[in-house]
Amino acid sequence: MRMSLASLAWLLTCTFTMTPATSAPPPQAAQFRAPAELTAHPIPPNPLVFENGQPVKSKSDWNRRRLEIKALFRHYMYGGTPAKPVRPRFAVDRTDADALGGKATLKQVTIALGDATAPRIHLMIVIPNRRSGTVPAFLGLNFCGNHTVLADPRVALPVSWMSGFCKGCTNNRATDAARGSEAEGWAIEQSIDRGYAVATFYNGDAEPDRPEAAEGIRAYYARRGDRADWGTIAAWGWSLSRALDYLVTDPAIDARRVAVVGHSRNGKAALVAAALDERFAMAIPLQAGCGGTAPNRSTVGESVKAINDRFPHWFNAVYKQFNLGPDRLPFDQHELIALCAPRPVLLPNAVEDTWANPEGQFAMARAASPVYRFLGVDGLAADRMPPLGQPVLSRLGYFIRPGKHSMTREDWRVFLDFADRHLR
Ligand code: GCU
Repeated sequence: MRMSLASLAWLLTCTFTMTPATSAPPPQAAQFRAPAELTAHPIPPNPLVFENGQPVKSKSDWNRRRLEIKALFRHYMYGGTPAKPVRPRFAVDRTDADALGGKATLKQVTIALGDATAPRIHLMIVIPNRRSGTVPAFLGLNFCGNHTVLADPRVALPVSWMSGFCKGCTNNRATDAARGSEAEGWAIEQSIDRGYAVATFYNGDAEPDRPEAAEGIRAYYARRGDRADWGTIAAWGWSLSRALDYLVTDPAIDARRVAVVGHSRNGKAALVAAALDERFAMAIPLQAGCGGTAPNRSTVGESVKAINDRFPHWFNAVYKQFNLGPDRLPFDQHELIALCAPRPVLLPNAVEDTWANPEGQFAMARAASPVYRFLGVDGLAADRMPPLGQPVLSRLGYFIRPGKHSMTREDWRVFLDFADRHLR
């Protein structure tokens, strides 16, 4: 495959050793040239080289290079995000200590994403009752409402607009008909049994999945004069950080052990959240594909043009200028993964989900790996794609199973094994 070979060529030319800091002048911040003025590079850029060509030689160099990479992603792809609201507003709406047959406590919390007029997210947290002290947690967006994830009649129905593809959705509103319809894929009881809390909220609470949504957080900030051209993926990632603002205050949750997870478009948002917010201890973007974990420079699966044409609201306007020349991008998605280093990241895939480009994602993990090693930890412990069903659970991990694009109980079992290894 073109991508894998290119990536391999680059991997062979990069250095993995850490050398002492030099007295070289600090590199300039990214210049943000217009896409048409950028030079095309068929090989993804080396994360350990600054835009001005200087190598990253020390940890403090890497800290500056991280800022540069973040700025590039914001400018050319995801858009900028607003500052954290000055005064976080949370309200615990209800707590039921007898969920899942008494194994868990179900907590429902409303979080305002700004002042009293801002959109609100409704966070559902399921916490194991058998615990001594605080517990680690998974946090992730869901597609169609908290009521689909846990079949408990006390879970509030979403009140926000919902896409017609969601089961039980009538006139773009959730109904009781879909209660528990996604419960098998989330397998929350399995996480509870293994000592983890699971927190989730409906992505449409923060930003509806459609262009020009007047009720979302992007429109809310635009009305307040914030001109940031941020797409829905960045908006969802930012809202995951707002949920984390609450989780770190919850007495049952270990604030230092929150993993951000997500499937597909929600996986893209999960990786963006972890890349930009270092409070997330781990990221598990499942089958996140184009715009998440798969290379922009690829002819396999979904292309930059395909994703921009079908989902024009997911990324900013500048990214669309790369539709016909993604190799001009001054980064690729291995650098979004590298922004998480040295924190653990797992890329789970399914073999029939070629749209999400599992091989390209493996190449991205390999290309991010030198940053992990540069920081003194293990990267991806595999030179080749592992056999189906055999996860590589190194700090930068990879998994591919038989089957299609979906989130399953088996996927969660691997998430839990990965978390046991790196969060315990
Ligand atoms: C579409 C889209 C993908 C996305 C997926 C999903 O297939 O093209 O980029 O990941 O939807 O979110 O399920």
